[in-house]
Amino acid sequence: MNKVSSSIAESLKVYASAKINLHLEVLGLRKDGFHELAMVMQSIDLVDEIEITKTNDELISLNSDNPELDNGDGNLIIKAAKLIRSRSGLRDLGALIYLRKKIPIGAGLAGGSSDGAATLVGLNSLWGLNFSNNQLEDMAAELGSDVPFCISGGAQLCFGRGECLEPLDKSDPTLAIVLVKDPSVSVSTPWAYSRYKQLNESTYLSKEIDFQEKRMALRKASWLRPLNASNPPPLINDLQEVVAPATPAVEKALQFLRSLKGVLSVAMSGSGPSCFAIFSDLDQARIALEENQEELRKQCLEGWCCALNSKGVRFAK
Ligand code: C5P
Repeated sequence: MNKVSSSIAESLKVYASAKINLHLEVLGLRKDGFHELAMVMQSIDLVDEIEITKTNDELISLNSDNPELDNGDGNLIIKAAKLIRSRSGLRDLGALIYLRKKIPIGAGLAGGSSDGAATLVGLNSLWGLNFSNNQLEDMAAELGSDVPFCISGGAQLCFGRGECLEPLDKSDPTLAIVLVKDPSVSVSTPWAYSRYKQLNESTYLSKEIDFQEKRMALRKASWLRPLNASNPPPLINDLQEVVAPATPAVEKALQFLRSLKGVLSVAMSGSGPSCFAIFSDLDQARIALEENQEELRKQCLEGWCCALNSKGVRFAK
């Protein structure tokens, strides 16, 4: 049983990083119906801010600066808060949570997942629960496939449905991205996977030994060399094959990014519709986006320049 420290009202602020998929390979189908994946995920410097105040009643409430958000039981913040409280075995733990949303919703950037991860980390500290990182990652896996990665973030190999994590510390912090998204479009993740299955099930691997071989191949890939302008990440996203042809906003975003000066490689993130282009540094990315503001507006796209983050959830100082 975890102990809670004495009950003076306290609050803290945590930052939740968005992620991109530098590699997303669908290997096959698991017995639980989820897809077996081999991925490289990378946190980026596009963050939500979550402020949490501890209360001594049982109420857990969420408010945010984004009126489009569900502040109720469907939100991963509320789910995460209720899950960690139930695992603590303690009842009289409450929290008032306020979310400042910067990560676009339904964008393939794990914004909701990262908010859930940050809530687990924040409440673990604020409620004095002392769960280990591994215990938090196990809870995170119950909340969603991308949530475990979002806890520590940085650059990690992610296997299974996303819950088997192997940190990579070779990410080059000087690389940066331009990220774009049509704000009027979102893509359903279940739809993207079921469409992929419809078109590719006949080529799915099914034996554990074949999954192992794919994992080994990814571990040995060029990710193990420092990433820089002469060794740009070899971006792969299997879901892009099915999402892009069915989503004009994705084709438009990819085309815009490919036209930028100095771009090293371009891909869709997760199940889309956000797409990103890799640049050798933040200055190059800023210049490329700045020079193309008019085209961005003409194409009705939103754009960001982001450094790569070495951490997922961070406490505000
Ligand atoms: O885990 P998460 O809630 O992000 O998954 C959303 C949906 O995406 C799942 O219900 C499933 O349809 C699909 N999915 C999958 N295989 C994965 C991750 C997600 O089929 N590894």
